[in-house]
Amino acid sequence: MSGQDSSNAGYDLVVVANRLPVDFSVGSDGEVEWQRSPGGLVSALEPVMKEADGAWVGWSGAPDLAHEPFEADGMLLVPVTLSAGEIERYYEGFSNDTLWPLYHDVIAPPTYHRQWFDSYRKVNQRFAEAAAAQAAQGAVVWVHDYQLQLVPKMLRELRPDLRIGFFDHIPFPAVELFQQLPWRHSIVEGLLGADLVGFQRGGDASNFLRSVRRLTEHTTRGSMVTIKNDDGTPGRSVRAAAFPISIDTAFFDELARSPEVQARAKEVREDLGDPEIVMLGVDRLDYTKGIRHRIKAYGELLQDGRIDPATATLVQVASPSRENVGAYQELREHVEVLVGRINGEYGEIGHSAIHYLHHSYPPAEMAALYLAADVMLVTSLRDGMNLVAKEYIAARSDLGGVLVLSEFTGAADELAPGPLLCNPHDIDGMKDIIARAAEMSSVEKRRRMRNLRRKVMSDDVAKWSKSFLGVLTAMPARDIYV
Ligand code: F6P
Repeated sequence: MSGQDSSNAGYDLVVVANRLPVDFSVGSDGEVEWQRSPGGLVSALEPVMKEADGAWVGWSGAPDLAHEPFEADGMLLVPVTLSAGEIERYYEGFSNDTLWPLYHDVIAPPTYHRQWFDSYRKVNQRFAEAAAAQAAQGAVVWVHDYQLQLVPKMLRELRPDLRIGFFDHIPFPAVELFQQLPWRHSIVEGLLGADLVGFQRGGDASNFLRSVRRLTEHTTRGSMVTIKNDDGTPGRSVRAAAFPISIDTAFFDELARSPEVQARAKEVREDLGDPEIVMLGVDRLDYTKGIRHRIKAYGELLQDGRIDPATATLVQVASPSRENVGAYQELREHVEVLVGRINGEYGEIGHSAIHYLHHSYPPAEMAALYLAADVMLVTSLRDGMNLVAKEYIAARSDLGGVLVLSEFTGAADELAPGPLLCNPHDIDGMKDIIARAAEMSSVEKRRRMRNLRRKVMSDDVAKWSKSFLGVLTAMPARDIYV
């Protein structure tokens, strides 16, 4: 890929994602100040973006922030402006109060509002236009995630010359749930505007293909969909397949080996009062993560006397997320009441049963926490992949630590049988598994962690993006342009 040429003919690789990979502000002199925002997607795409000198289309995260495209970190960043009302309807509303709960097996009830979908459609059109304006003739455009599912079709209408990929970072639900969505047809057709639609798990790709069969006239064969032309003749092909995402494994491995992080991990344990067992949960404060189920199980283990609050502690990092959405506000209330009750009951002066931290931390602090934790609890009720599980494994080159992992994560499909798998809905079962993790011998810990590292360390996120783009660019042109 050659990047932008001197005739300003556009970029050969354009990434379209809800958020830009930087936080930026515009000073009174009109100058942009930016800071790279932490997050998996930017490290996933950085190598390919740099190689291609690509462009990234996304929202700044703030209302009404408009700016011309600007260069940062070797990429062209193209801000898409959202008004406060659009943030409410497109982002908080349709993306995070309709699609998010629906795609996570209706753990919370999805809300269906026609005005929200209208806004989603308009904002998707804006993203599609911004991408179309940056892409060179025949360029590759890679659209990301559930906020932008209409973009592939809109983009194809604007620019039929492009090769379009879409990756869904979250689960794709069973058709029996998906068909609740009043706009299900538009969403499926929107996604089918892509040449390649990627999912975290084979099960998500199958769910999507079943929705295509049930809700459209198009035919499927294996992972391929043949799009029917308006006159009923077979047209272009779309492929739907799994591309499980990973993390920057070498980065976490090296970070956790650094003397500073190792010293910080020791300090964390000391600050916690040198308990025999440190358990850790790290999540966005989201109802899909099973935080309440985990804390309930932990509280009952204390109550039953199976875990001694004098020698064990649970650290729960719950980073603030989507704080204007009602379901997230309710969850925060519930979690904080539960933590307060357990701490009131089992805490002592100078010792808390649960250390609850409603903050985000930089990667080095996260790596220190992973190193300090004897047991990592990932108990999501539904999770596209769960990268925290992979970060924990990448950080544990000492082969210490036990991973308790929910069966309902994409990571469980890949990592079993290394972790202790649990069903977070089964509180008694989860209690047994947490107790087993706390008592596990170091021989068994080492054996399990060695197996887990064998899988995780060989599969990093750069490999993921290369493999997706490799399949997309290798698709025969006749599949794309017939
Ligand atoms: O998992 C889906 C996802 O959109 C991630 O891409 C993102 O890091 C996370 O949820 C938080 O999303 P938001 O942009 O809503 O803060």
